[in-house]
Amino acid sequence: MLEQNVVGPSTARPSTARPSTVAVIGDTPLWPIRVPVGDRTVRLWLKLESANPFGSIKARTADALLATLEATGELRPGRRVVESTSGNLGVALAGLCAARGYRCTLVVEPSTPMTSIERMTAYGADVVTVSDVPGGRTLDARLRVVREILEQDSGSVWTNQYESPANPGVHEGQTAAELAKAAPPGGFDAVAVSVSTGGTLAGVARYFRDNQPRTRIVAVDAVGSAALGGAPADRPHKLAGFGSARASTFLHSGLWDHVVRLRDADAVAACAAVLERTGMSLGGSAGATVLAATVRAALDPGLRELACVCPDSGEKYAQLRQATPAGDPPDERIAAALDALGRAEDEGAA
Ligand SMILES: Cc1ncc(COP(=O)(O)O)c(C=O)c1O
Repeated sequence: MLEQNVVGPSTARPSTARPSTVAVIGDTPLWPIRVPVGDRTVRLWLKLESANPFGSIKARTADALLATLEATGELRPGRRVVESTSGNLGVALAGLCAARGYRCTLVVEPSTPMTSIERMTAYGADVVTVSDVPGGRTLDARLRVVREILEQDSGSVWTNQYESPANPGVHEGQTAAELAKAAPPGGFDAVAVSVSTGGTLAGVARYFRDNQPRTRIVAVDAVGSAALGGAPADRPHKLAGFGSARASTFLHSGLWDHVVRLRDADAVAACAAVLERTGMSLGGSAGATVLAATVRAALDPGLRELACVCPDSGEKYAQLRQATPAGDPPDERIAAALDALGRAEDEGAA
């Protein structure tokens, strides 16, 4: 039963912090850094989604998921929104539900940052944390809890970030369109997007395929993730919001030109390099896109201007404050890309 799954913080309702405005979603900054790659330098344009309300790209997704259910009449004030989340979507949903008069229950995993859970409860959401499972693959457990809540509470509605067309739709209509509008003359040679549900990648890829087909799409997934197909494997240092134990329902191979698979620990090392060189704090999946873009740039001399979608910043992730966990050293390609990021220059103020 549901209670057996509750191992997280109390679901008691503290005094509710209501966001005063949720109007300013999107139009996030693009921050260029220059990275030496072989005998040339490339420019990585970091789209800083942490500038969104609630601190991540998921403000866009949450708003679009709710708007879709509101438009069909399934979601009305007083109803309960239910969702499974690794953190960012939950914070955004909790804030938007508080503002719009919906109750909200969020089902999270043990790797969800505690500060994200605290923000959800501060907005009045109930939070259920599923028990850890070997290898960190908690998605099935989270979805079981979501279904239990839907069965038990007839006033509850699932936003379903895993299947709602609103998820890729908002990234096609907003995130990608903003990128294209702010691109340097000639556009981007490539755009790197990390994958969890696959919504961001699907939306961004569709936009560029339709509007700027010259731009190469780089899918960035975790070693051990099944988001782009294949079997999931254990990820002892799993980063929240990066990769998935299930294949994305939004993606098919025609949507990307290249896949770069990265170990969680190497994404953490990329975050550390960017922080040291530029002072910019990136979340793990953002570090992964920056590292993947650098890997691709080293393989393809035609790439000079590359965009990296950076879903959030790194402050809330305890994992990013620790030394890279011991393990096998990175392979040569990754080591060279990390070395290049260790010599990156901030161009933001130029
Ligand atoms: C930190 C972070 N990065 C990347 C993503 C991936 O986004 P998508 O679900 O659109 O694939 C998420 C999604 O939760 C996230 O929280």
